[in-house]
Amino acid sequence: MATVRLDQKNRALTRGIPNTFDRALSNFFGTGPTDIALAKDQHRAYRQALLAAGIEVTVLPSDDNHPDCTFVEDQAVVIDGHVLLPVPGHPSRVNEQPPISEFITRQLTGTKICSMHGDARMDGGDILRLGDLFFVGRSSRTNDAGIEELRDLLTHLGHELRVIEIPGHALHLTSISSTPTDTVIIAPEGFLPKDAFGELPEGCEVKWMPAEEVYGCNTIGLPNGQVLLAEGYPTVLKAIEEMGLEPVLLDMSQIREADGSLTCCSLFF
Ligand code: GLY
Repeated sequence: MATVRLDQKNRALTRGIPNTFDRALSNFFGTGPTDIALAKDQHRAYRQALLAAGIEVTVLPSDDNHPDCTFVEDQAVVIDGHVLLPVPGHPSRVNEQPPISEFITRQLTGTKICSMHGDARMDGGDILRLGDLFFVGRSSRTNDAGIEELRDLLTHLGHELRVIEIPGHALHLTSISSTPTDTVIIAPEGFLPKDAFGELPEGCEVKWMPAEEVYGCNTIGLPNGQVLLAEGYPTVLKAIEEMGLEPVLLDMSQIREADGSLTCCSLFF
């Protein structure tokens, strides 16, 4: 998940692949999963990689009524122990939220949990955190009212928020960028203007990758120095190795077919 710093990644919520995964929304990276058994294996390997890195992993049961339910990142925004429950930007995804909000509420007792209201829409996948600086994508799933509700929370926490326009051929901000560490953003050329992230804090940088490796730009940096990466993106792999980090490669082919990236499949809290 893209809203926690490296040192805050201790526990991750995941949700299994439903038997209806072949009906997941698929308009960007993929045209729909074709092998649900393989998707389940890939999801198992993903959870195993998190566990092996010392993360406590919970798996909520999947829900065949919601083909996209695996993508838990979109359903809750957890920032410094505060929780914002967004109204997801696609109507078919709204009712995925209750089991996730119930789980988070049970785990984070004493935490103030806010819910979005009215016309506000947001998918958690549109939020990116670089240290204590936040970015949000204005996308087909996240609107201005949603962005203002996020801004209210971040202002309360003393964090800055910058808005990035997501091009029509991309789903979320985290579909086209990630922060493998608290000081580096990786993003593909050709999707965002070179100044999209603005002036970064000292010591931070954007590493631009070839456009054809866009899917590989979604990574998960972990506190033990490992970085989860999708298989098949050599420039991203080299960049991670050159940063002195340890890549852990995962086959994401079927999850990619449902437009899901690595970060989409977990919610760190
Ligand atoms: N298939 C993931 C999404 O469109 O939200």
